[in-house]
Amino acid sequence: MIVISDGDLLREALIKQANIFSDRKVNGLISVSFPVEGSIAWQNGDPWKEHRRFMNRTLRTLGMGRSLMGKRINDECLNMCDYVDKLEGNPINPDQMMTTMTCNIMNAVALGKRYDFNDPRFVKLRRDCKEILDNLSNTSIYNMLPFLYHTRLCKRYREAVENVTIYVKNEVIEHDKSFNNNSLRDVIDYYLREVKRGSRVTDEEDDDDEKDNEHTCSFINDQFCWRGVLDLLIAGVDTTSNHTMWTMLHMAYYPEIQEKAQAQIDQVVGRDRLPTLDDQPRLPLVTAIAREVLRTSIGTTTVPHHTTQDTYLKEFFIPKGTQVLGNLWSLNHDPEVFEDPYVFRPSRFLAEDGSLQGLSDVKSFGIGPRKCPGEPMAQQECFLIMAILLHRYNLVFPEGDPIPDIRGRVKGMMLLPDKYRLRFIRR
Ligand code: HEM
Repeated sequence: MIVISDGDLLREALIKQANIFSDRKVNGLISVSFPVEGSIAWQNGDPWKEHRRFMNRTLRTLGMGRSLMGKRINDECLNMCDYVDKLEGNPINPDQMMTTMTCNIMNAVALGKRYDFNDPRFVKLRRDCKEILDNLSNTSIYNMLPFLYHTRLCKRYREAVENVTIYVKNEVIEHDKSFNNNSLRDVIDYYLREVKRGSRVTDEEDDDDEKDNEHTCSFINDQFCWRGVLDLLIAGVDTTSNHTMWTMLHMAYYPEIQEKAQAQIDQVVGRDRLPTLDDQPRLPLVTAIAREVLRTSIGTTTVPHHTTQDTYLKEFFIPKGTQVLGNLWSLNHDPEVFEDPYVFRPSRFLAEDGSLQGLSDVKSFGIGPRKCPGEPMAQQECFLIMAILLHRYNLVFPEGDPIPDIRGRVKGMMLLPDKYRLRFIRR
């Protein structure tokens, strides 16, 4: 395996030589625990390309439009506010609350479902998704020694795989019973529509919304319905909740930045209503904070890529079959791009006139054709959750609690904050 940390080399590999560097090699735990067919993250070639186009279009249609997605996130935020209000300023570890929210938002988009915070079925689903994501990382011992999958050591992971698979498969069966081609409710329904249309000719690469109804994906079969949704649950829940956990931590750590953001929110939104996604263009500081958190605390490496032929990156020979990890952390801390890269400074994304600048320099979602398809959804979630929290509460560490280390710890592909508690004090 090679790790590419130099920005120019990584762009050369994942963008200019994308035809050679975009495959995944299915090995480790994934090869023994999940089928590859129907997975966006693990398939290669034409089925993967077509599947990604399908998913990008579906997510866009279903919720990445600001109003629909805004409503889904808003609904979850209102539930969260009810829950937080009842705490009356008493401290909590917000981890479970955040994962519940992001899991509910993903459930709404993918399966048309939402659960109450303490519903035991939901607690189980969340735990299982987390167990799977943690173990699929490059640093997991089971991933390095996949034969352990069949031993008692891997029992918890096996159970998690079985539970989540059964859960999504049952949802597909239920969706099929009530399927209505004229009223597609969620990602599963869009998959089912493709399956029911059967194999027909696919269009060429297109991003044209107007063509959506005409497009048919020739590769999509029954298995894609549950396997693709499983990818969304595994890839899209803990990553996004981790982003909001880090952002809240930074707000408590830097109260002067929190105050500035609150002042901007009060000025733009006032105190009589909650912020919405439509306010985003006039709340650049909240966007800048979320992006600075992405830069400093999210984004360690890509998922491993795999070369499909011998090639050169500058003078370096890279043989066919090499595993390649992109070091996103080094891109996000490149001193040529970011002045004082280790300093948390959201204002770096604000131009003199207060408008946003340089947002796309942050590479936490990867680069090239394998770049995260959930980026717009994750960005909108973090923005709105934070805007609502900051509008309604002051986020402070409880007196006497140790101040967490702002550097966090690496777990698999993610950098996690140390455990911390917060008081949400009503403003
Ligand atoms: C802050 C939140 C998130 C971060 C930081 C993040 C980051 C990433 C990264 C670094 C990759 C690998 C890129 C590569 O290998 O080159 C990836 C892949 C992926 N992500 Fe995300 N992600 C986030 C949220 C989401 C969400 C919300 C979804 C679902 C809507 C999602 C779905 C996926 C999928 C399906 C892939 C595999 C793409 C492929 O292999 O073609 N992610 N993500």
